[in-house]
Amino acid sequence: MLSSPSPPATVATALSRSDILQWLAEERPEPLKLLFRTADRIRREHVGDQVHLRGLIEFSNRCSRSCGYCGLRVANRGMERYCMTPDEILASARLAVQFGYGSVVLQSGEDHAITRGWVKALISRIRQETGLAITLSLGERHRDDLAAWKEAGADRYLLRFETSNETLFNRIHPPLPGPSGSRMALLATLHGLGYEVGSGIMVGIPGQSFEDLANDIETFRTLDLDMIGIGPFLPHPATPLGTRSSPAAAAAGAQVPNTGLMTCKTLALARMVCPDANIPSTTALATLQPDSGREQGLLCGANVIMPNLTPHRYRRLYEIYPDKACCGEEPLLCQQQLQELFRKIGRIPGSGRGDSPNLERRRAAVQTAA
Ligand code: 5AD
Repeated sequence: MLSSPSPPATVATALSRSDILQWLAEERPEPLKLLFRTADRIRREHVGDQVHLRGLIEFSNRCSRSCGYCGLRVANRGMERYCMTPDEILASARLAVQFGYGSVVLQSGEDHAITRGWVKALISRIRQETGLAITLSLGERHRDDLAAWKEAGADRYLLRFETSNETLFNRIHPPLPGPSGSRMALLATLHGLGYEVGSGIMVGIPGQSFEDLANDIETFRTLDLDMIGIGPFLPHPATPLGTRSSPAAAAAGAQVPNTGLMTCKTLALARMVCPDANIPSTTALATLQPDSGREQGLLCGANVIMPNLTPHRYRRLYEIYPDKACCGEEPLLCQQQLQELFRKIGRIPGSGRGDSPNLERRRAAVQTAA
């Protein structure tokens, strides 16, 4: 499709694997403009001009895992750990209501001291006191926990598969002792329990090839995801991947670069293969490109933003990667900046919960079959 020296007049939207690979390798500005414009059009046709706002509450930075990329890893002992109280979490959730957001995302490290009952009670309170839709992002948990939380009123669950290359995943995400299931299996479990399911990847993980990234995009398609989070890998100095790089792989062109452009290409292709999904313009992209990241994401396929509602004294301690965007900003200021951005690019703040169109389609299919 892109072998001709002149840019294509149109972009095929039913992408084959070789199309995906060619687009990932494309560097000429004109064809890329066309790719982004096509993804933006598909976004408008399928999910409209509303940008859904999900208030992110990073309620605990405790973590029992040893992920090679994440600053919250257990071995990072230099870091002060915290867990917000239910009252503090409720206060943040009320901010979401005040700003007109439809939902909150409760995120933490993977911490099994955060018990099934504690989360259940929290979900019930948020449900009763705010009416917001609730997304959980608590790592790999037992099916019984996930079922109990769904029953208590949670709506959505986020668990990125990070990379579809199993060898690379196992290298950067060492398993806990004892038997453990795969994240892919957990995503299926979450679907089965009736959650809206979100997953996603990091772009430019050391050791990630273009073939891997094309597989990731094809995996989005096969997983029937409701939400897809795509952000650049950002090295954290207190992690094994924060210091190691492979100049040889990069020089050979085998390593996916962790750039904003590569992230935007991946985002645009994700929109094209999953036109109905909710796709955020991620904080990691905004961190890499503080002046333009959020806007660029929204212009190449994204329809969601997750403003951070974590209180400041905790937010600086939730350092999955350094210098997270929006870290110094007051929620109200962040809110005003977003309104300005939406005006500038002709988008409107989402109203309501912002449920996934995929979920509605799945429910309709179940009703038809019954
Ligand atoms: N760079 C970019 N993204 C990261 N995440 C964790 N650590 C990093 C990092 N160093 C992402 C992972 C995880 C999500 C919560 O944050 O994709 O699933």
